[in-house]
Amino acid sequence: MRRNLAALVLFCATAAVFAIVGADDPYRFFNWNVTYGDIYPLGVRQQGILINGQFPGPDIHSVTNDNLIINVFNSLDEPFLISWAGIQQRRNSFEDGVFGTTCPIPPGKNFTYILQVKDQIGSFYYFPSLGFHKAAGGFGGIRILSRPRIPVPFPDPAGDYTVLIGDWYKANHTDLKAQLDGGHKLPFPDGILINGRGSGGASFNVEQGKTYRLRICNVGLQNSLNFRIQNHKMQLVEVEGTHTLQTTYSSLDVHLGQCSSVLVTADQPAKDYYIVASSRFTAPQVLTTTAVLRYSNSAGSASGPLPGGPTIQVDWSLNQARSIRTNLTASGPRPNPQGSYHYGMINTTRTIRIANSAGQVNGKQRYAANSVSFVAPDTPMKIADYFKISGVFRVGSISDNPTGGGIYLDTSVMQADYRAFIEIVFQNDEDIIQSWHLDGYAFFVVGMDGGQWTPASRNEYNLRDAVFRCTTQVYPNSWTAIYMALDNVGMWNIRSEHWARQYLGQQFYLRVYTASTSLRDEYPIPKNAILCGRASGRSTRPL
Ligand SMILES: *[C@@H]1O[C@H](CO)[C@@H](O)[C@H](O)[C@H]1NC(C)=O
Ligand SMILES: *[C@@H]1O[C@H](CO)[C@@H](O)[C@H](O)[C@H]1NC(C)=O
Ligand SMILES: *[C@@H]1O[C@H](CO)[C@@H](O)[C@H](O)[C@H]1NC(C)=O
Ligand SMILES: *[C@@H]1O[C@H](CO)[C@@H](O)[C@H](O)[C@H]1NC(C)=O
Ligand SMILES: *[C@@H]1O[C@H](CO)[C@@H](O)[C@H](O)[C@H]1NC(C)=O
Repeated sequence: MRRNLAALVLFCATAAVFAIVGADDPYRFFNWNVTYGDIYPLGVRQQGILINGQFPGPDIHSVTNDNLIINVFNSLDEPFLISWAGIQQRRNSFEDGVFGTTCPIPPGKNFTYILQVKDQIGSFYYFPSLGFHKAAGGFGGIRILSRPRIPVPFPDPAGDYTVLIGDWYKANHTDLKAQLDGGHKLPFPDGILINGRGSGGASFNVEQGKTYRLRICNVGLQNSLNFRIQNHKMQLVEVEGTHTLQTTYSSLDVHLGQCSSVLVTADQPAKDYYIVASSRFTAPQVLTTTAVLRYSNSAGSASGPLPGGPTIQVDWSLNQARSIRTNLTASGPRPNPQGSYHYGMINTTRTIRIANSAGQVNGKQRYAANSVSFVAPDTPMKIADYFKISGVFRVGSISDNPTGGGIYLDTSVMQADYRAFIEIVFQNDEDIIQSWHLDGYAFFVVGMDGGQWTPASRNEYNLRDAVFRCTTQVYPNSWTAIYMALDNVGMWNIRSEHWARQYLGQQFYLRVYTASTSLRDEYPIPKNAILCGRASGRSTRPL
């Protein structure tokens, strides 16, 4: 669509790691040791997943097109994988770090991810994708800055903070997983963390008169959160890689898996102020936590009532979501006019409607998409596909439309044509709020509204300046429609970000397929790929 295909170069990173990446672009190397360690986010001791001793894990700072070489040592006593939400892994779903694409790193072993943040800017995060590890930590922020000569539509902030917010359980991940494996739902979470700390734990230092960027991501398990700062306004500037119209909000809903950047000016009398995150759509129970915005010349600690925010109001959230639009004159990863893409002028060639549902299978709680509750096969589908190992999955194992039937288990893989331009409608007939994430892609969120989607719903689509992101909410008993250009060959996870739902089957894979075997369309399996299941013992040398 809007990219020149860079010259492809074979690059030898080390004798052992052999990959094809943008060899002209800069490299950043990371060595990560993943361990268990004690953490006390809600005052009780818990076994957390640490990266280089840190909870949350270290931020990844990068610039558009950088190559990130991340050597992950798994020092846990069980298999482990990290996935990179929002990093598009162009032509390279092998590096995506979910079970459908990448074999787990065995305990005591390491694996070097080779990623390129090709044609991307913005705020994202990484997280552990297996089991219920995400409930123990192992997540951290990813920021991709614009290249020096590409204009950013606001002045350089005086500081740039990662703000990871999310609900949290005092129970450890093995306990939570055991409850789900036993066929039960999870209880209501115990609290909310901001950067791994409970109420009053995290603080952000500012100097009076200066403006700061906050990159707020909801890395939680179950709840949409509302974020606000006492006496301060927030100017939204970016969501998941798109520069937005710079609208000012007094509070912002951040749904599961989403990231938003706001600018905050320290324009108040010099003291400390409360930062608040509270759960949405959970009343009468509302979880609330605080952090502190601390002025350098602060005259005193934060005081007064916490700033209020919405709790159950759906319309408030829907209206805010509709106000979040792309700034069509701002540059993205490339300068305008390449940055703005006239998605509204392109005819879609396929409509896929995905309905989420919950129910029991064999007396156990499961969650489904178009009635299929995903079960992982013994071999990652992408790897089975590469080695042409049959019997691991069937394309067409999930239908393009809701079936209305009961939930059943399968390894759901949907096939789609490379370079098609498609419409996906997420229909949520449940009374919970849903959040869907697509790996490998960003998409245009063209519409959302209450009730059942019908073809007439297209009349209310935003075909001009819809936001281009990788995670979208679907309100209770509502629909959300997206447009996407299938310009990235691979096996891509589409999942609920409600983590118990994801774990119990509310996910599937989109196999974006071409018969071409050109390296311009897809890279071969990485030389260092771990092989497991029915691919054990195969060779990653070119076939
Ligand atoms: C990872 O950390 C553990 C615990 O500190 C240590 O025993 C181990 O040697 C470390 N591994 C690597 C590869 O640094
Ligand atoms: C494991 O780490 C070593 C360096 O300590 C590196 O040489 C090797 O390539 C890594 N293995 C994989 C599979 O990435
Ligand atoms: C997890 O919590 C349970 C108690 O609920 C405890 O028995 C178990 O040892 C904990 N596991 C770890 C690894 O901390
Ligand atoms: C859009 O971006 C331009 C920079 O290209 C900036 O000057 C303008 O203020 C932005 N408009 C809004 C409404 O955010
Ligand atoms: C889209 O479809 C309409 C109606 O079928 C047709 O008139 C129009 O030319 C198509 N546009 C493109 C860009 O193909």
